[in-house]
Amino acid sequence: MSWSDSLSRRLAERRGTSLWRNRQAHQGSDGRLLFTSDGQYLNFSSNDYLGLSQHPQIIAAWQQGAEQYGVGSGGSGHVTGYTTAHHVLEQQLAEWLGYSHALLFISGYAANQGVIAALMEKEDRIIADRLSHASLMEAAMHSPSQLRRFLHNDLDSLKHHLAKTCVGKTLVVTEGIFSMDGDCAPLEAIAQQTRSSKSWLMVDDAHGIGIHGHEGRGSCWSQNVKPEILIVTFGKAFGLSGAAVLCDEQTAEYLLQYSRHLIYSTSMPPAQAVALSEAVRQIRAGESLRQSLQNNIRYFRREAQHLSFALMDSETAIQPLIIGNNERCLALSHQLRQRKVWVKAILPPTVPPDSARLRITLTASHTRQDIDVLLGALHGSDC
Ligand SMILES: Cc1ncc(COP(=O)(O)O)c(C=O)c1O
Repeated sequence: MSWSDSLSRRLAERRGTSLWRNRQAHQGSDGRLLFTSDGQYLNFSSNDYLGLSQHPQIIAAWQQGAEQYGVGSGGSGHVTGYTTAHHVLEQQLAEWLGYSHALLFISGYAANQGVIAALMEKEDRIIADRLSHASLMEAAMHSPSQLRRFLHNDLDSLKHHLAKTCVGKTLVVTEGIFSMDGDCAPLEAIAQQTRSSKSWLMVDDAHGIGIHGHEGRGSCWSQNVKPEILIVTFGKAFGLSGAAVLCDEQTAEYLLQYSRHLIYSTSMPPAQAVALSEAVRQIRAGESLRQSLQNNIRYFRREAQHLSFALMDSETAIQPLIIGNNERCLALSHQLRQRKVWVKAILPPTVPPDSARLRITLTASHTRQDIDVLLGALHGSDC
C-alpha cells in the first residue's frame, strides 16, 4: 500500500466522526478572554489558572532575558544550552519545593517521557493510576518495563498490585490533580503504601503547582508528601511553558547522564527561564490570586447546583460537566460558543468511553459576572 493510500484510509476512518479534531487560530487569549476573528469570547478552557500569562512583570522579565541572552539557547544543556538563567531557576525551584535538585525540561510531556524512559528497565514495573495523563501512559507503554494500572484513586487496587512480586524496581505513578476530572489523589496514603513496599513514587502535579499549598507549593506539599520524583509544569498556573523534575542529587545526576530528552534536545530559551524565575516569585507572593480563584470555584459550584448537569467531585479549578454522548457534548459546546462562551468539548479517547465532557476551567481572572454568563448559557442550552 502506498503512503498516500494508507494515510487516506486512516483519515477516512475518522473524518465525519466526533473524534475528528480541529484547531482554530485565534488572535490571543488569557485566563479570561479569547479573541478570534468572530469577536471576543469568555474563556473557560484555559489552564492559565492565575492569569499570569499576561503579567506585566513576567513579560518584562522575558524581554530583559531576551536582551541579555538572545532568543534561543543554541543547544542542549550539555552543549551550550545551560546558562546562569537556567541554573538560577533550577536552584530557585529546588529551594521553593524542598528538594536538593531540579532539572528543567522543555515541556511536561518531555519531562514525563524523559524521566520514565531513563529510569525504567526491563525487569522493572510501573503501577500507574489508570487516569494518568497521556504523556505518562505513553512513556510507560514505550518503556521496557511492565505497566500495571490501578483503579482511579483506589488504594485497595494499588495495594493489590504492589503485593505482587517484581524482581526489579517499582515506580508508582499518579497525578496531584487529575487533568480531566479535577479531583485530587490521596497522596499521603499512596505515599505510605509506596514507601512500605520500598517502591518509588512519581507525582505529576501539573495542575496543582502554584495553586495548592503554602506559597503555591502544590498538592504534595499540601498533603505533606515528598515523592522521590515530582514533576511540575509551567504551562498552567505559571502561564508559560516548560517543566521541571524535582529529585535528589543521585537521581538528578542519573538523569543528566541517561535522559535522552536532556542530552539530545535544545534546552528552553534562557529568556524563558528568566521569565519563569519571575513567575515563581509572583506565585510565591500570589496569595490573593489563589484566593480569587478559590472564591470563583466556590461561587461556580454553589450556583451550578441549580443546573440540570451533575457536578463532579472536584474542588479545584477544573470543573467538568459530564455529558456522555459525543455528539451532544459537541452540540453543547457549539451552543455556548454562539453565546460567546468558549468551553471545549473533550471526547474519548482523551477521556474514557461515554464520558464526553465540557471541561470547564476557572481562573483567578474571571469575575462573578463572567461566571454568571457561563451559568446562564448552560441554563439556556437545549441539549
Ligand atoms: C497532568 C499533565 N501532565 C503533563 C502535561 C503535559 O504538559 P505540557 O503541556 O507542559 O507538555 C499535561 C498537559 O496538559 C497534563 O495535564
